[in-house]
Amino acid sequence: SALRNHNLADKINALPERVKNILIEAGKIADDVGLNAYVVGGFVRDLILGVENFDIDIVVEGDALMFSEKLAQHYQAHLTKHDRFGTAVVVLEDDFKIDVVTARKEYYEYPASLPVVEGGTIKDDLFRRDFTINSMAIKLNKSGFGNIVDFYGGRRDLQMGLIRILYNLSFVEDPTRIFRAIRFEQRYDFKMEEKTEEFAIKAIESGILGKVSHERINFEFFAMLKENNIWAILKRMEDLRILKNVYPEVVLSEDLKKLLKNAEENLACLKEKVSVQESLDRTLLYLLILYSNMSFEKAVKLSEKMRLSKEYKSEILKFIEANDIILSNLSGNIDISNYDVYNELKGLSMEILFVLCMLSNEKKFIDRVILYINNLKNIKTCVTGKDLKELGVKPGPEYAVLLDKVLAEKLNGNLQTYNDELEFLKKIIPKKI
Ligand code: CTP
Repeated sequence: SALRNHNLADKINALPERVKNILIEAGKIADDVGLNAYVVGGFVRDLILGVENFDIDIVVEGDALMFSEKLAQHYQAHLTKHDRFGTAVVVLEDDFKIDVVTARKEYYEYPASLPVVEGGTIKDDLFRRDFTINSMAIKLNKSGFGNIVDFYGGRRDLQMGLIRILYNLSFVEDPTRIFRAIRFEQRYDFKMEEKTEEFAIKAIESGILGKVSHERINFEFFAMLKENNIWAILKRMEDLRILKNVYPEVVLSEDLKKLLKNAEENLACLKEKVSVQESLDRTLLYLLILYSNMSFEKAVKLSEKMRLSKEYKSEILKFIEANDIILSNLSGNIDISNYDVYNELKGLSMEILFVLCMLSNEKKFIDRVILYINNLKNIKTCVTGKDLKELGVKPGPEYAVLLDKVLAEKLNGNLQTYNDELEFLKKIIPKKI
């Protein structure tokens, strides 16, 4: 229906008041300053698809800075201007963010460079974009509010489920679009249009990804890790020989593929079995999986290339150092005390614990990890240093040793009450002679 409909005012009206009013207000301000303003890109794509997306990018034909000043004034909002680029960000009181840019014509002086920019029409501005489905705009001025601007067949491709570039050199000028094409394909269950895919393959084969900075590659890669269907994305990256090009350290062995393919299902299964419902960091979880079969040296190298945060890096290296040992120590049918399970797993993040379960194919191992998460992880002794002091023990390193003995006894189920713990402490405190 969106195909036949040239005006999307109805769909805009159905948006949350806040979003709708901002769009209407932006149109009024555009009228006041005598310029045309449009909302563009992902917002329009998702509005037509019926997918929630409140990232408002506004393109103004003319002085976007002047427009953004008026918009900020109207909302008494915070304004950041980038005069050199003719772009601005308006941040409203409730942190709602509006990006404003001047419609521009862009061209590239050489492959993979940053573009040279000059003022242009909305048609120019839409033409410099990545894919037809992202090249649509909606007019905001009062006259024509809600009208779709679709010069390049965006609605047709949305309907057909196709990711299509607008001009042959698109991937050469901006190779990060190859990542974006894959991301959109998998997110919407679309396909790259045939010629588009050929251009992507040609660009990859030409080695163009080697010319893109790590920062830009990482940015795209981490955007991928935020999507739902990470396995499908990685598979596609492997098939198009992108992974090999950008992160040769990642080798999708058969085992790793299986792990990735089953990750979501395993995750759901595990989540059902554990009682603590802290939210998992999916990015970290998938990084752990991807690094799981890597040598320590390679992992260090890749984590630097990926510019991982200190926290991620240390989680990953801790995991690589310990996973084999933990897996072997906690597998098998021999009896292992709760205290030993606790000691083996304490201090590990929920993400590491989950990935360990995914790596193991032993029920016994998984049961132990679940026991740890559900019943052992949060157990603490009731007695403290204060009790030791009152029992006449001189403060010192001995305290930790004694309290750990109580913890061991408690984890193993032999102490129920505070009093039990006290009695036990009294028994193990070394007698002064
Ligand atoms: N764009 C582009 N080329 C790029 C990145 C972005 O042409 N390499 C254009 C597209 O028109 C896109 C718009 O800039 O729609 C906004 O980019 P971004 O916010 O990154 O993407 P969205 O399309 O909003 O996608 P997402 O839903 O992932 O945020």
